[in-house]
Amino acid sequence: MSPISRIGVLTGGGDAPGLNAVIRAVVKSACNAGIECLGLEDSFDGLLEFGRSRPLTPHDVRGIMRLGGTILGTVNTGNPFTAVVQTSDGLRQYGDRCVEMFHRMGLSGLVAIGGDGTLGIAHQFCERGIPIVGVPKTIDNDIVGTTNCFGFDTAVAFATDAIDRLHTTAEAHRRIIVVEVMGRYAGWIALHAGVAGGADAILIPEIPFDLHIVAERLRERDNFGAHFSIVVVAEGAYPAGGKLALLEEASGRRVERLGGMGLKVAESLSKLTGKETRSVVLGHLQRGGAPTSFDRVLATRFGGKAVELLRQGEFGKMVAFAPPDIVARPIADVVGKTKIVPRDSDLLLTAKALGVTFGD
Ligand code: F6P
Repeated sequence: MSPISRIGVLTGGGDAPGLNAVIRAVVKSACNAGIECLGLEDSFDGLLEFGRSRPLTPHDVRGIMRLGGTILGTVNTGNPFTAVVQTSDGLRQYGDRCVEMFHRMGLSGLVAIGGDGTLGIAHQFCERGIPIVGVPKTIDNDIVGTTNCFGFDTAVAFATDAIDRLHTTAEAHRRIIVVEVMGRYAGWIALHAGVAGGADAILIPEIPFDLHIVAERLRERDNFGAHFSIVVVAEGAYPAGGKLALLEEASGRRVERLGGMGLKVAESLSKLTGKETRSVVLGHLQRGGAPTSFDRVLATRFGGKAVELLRQGEFGKMVAFAPPDIVARPIADVVGKTKIVPRDSDLLLTAKALGVTFGD
């Protein structure tokens, strides 16, 4: 008989398509193994008070696999572990309160679904003795130790579709269209969507760019009769010797908000090439909508494996995709790191071999 009898499940950080599919898999596999599930609302905040969670049964998760967002709500305002919070029992340190309530709620395990920030908080709770298993989530695909996070495939599929649509209008008007995609400090979405969409230039944070090189490539296209071009720009890309484009500086527990490089690139390319140029920011559209079948399957496998790890007492681990297997890695080995696109990535080298410029 498993010593795990009642588990909590929570989602933290920015949402990603597939969160609900993980919740569904956790609830169904736990309940089928005789384990009760409690859905914690708004990430770890669900541990602050009794009223911020609800029991979840297979009935409650029926039909949610195809839904974007998260039925539990989420928070991405940084690590509150040592913050002081007002509770119904007076002022408490956030971490202390969550640990106290975890026990008062009769929980014996926790599944924390989130990105680096959420996994970092999970790691701190593990060190305080809370039995936690992490599930990596982010459309950015920048968590180390797993080849894929769910949400990434959906974001890439959306961005690819957008690039396809922009191609036809770019060609009709003989324009350059610049498409800015998400990804924070990693260029995975830009690289994959750029290649899948047949972009002519892809600018990623891992390769600071020179727009003179990009403009030269676009002029070459004009010379051989392709009078339009698509340029994909990762939000975290920046010019060699230059700076990131920010929508908002970091403040308090809020991280900096990236954005705006697409417009800057479009303005400069217009001047350098003399061509009419437009820019589009795909933004949060990349985070919404139904997950692709790949992400549904990955999310389902992650959720099932997380419950298995809790039942086996494998606490402090994160489920991870190491094709073709789902494996467990210590959360301590992955937090605080960012998986970026290696310069010798075969996809990057293949794109270059096909004539795509990265501005270097
Ligand atoms: O990490 C996921 C992500 O979508 C990034 O690609 C993006 O920079 C950020 O979150 C946007 O966050 P917010 O929801 O705070 O605008």
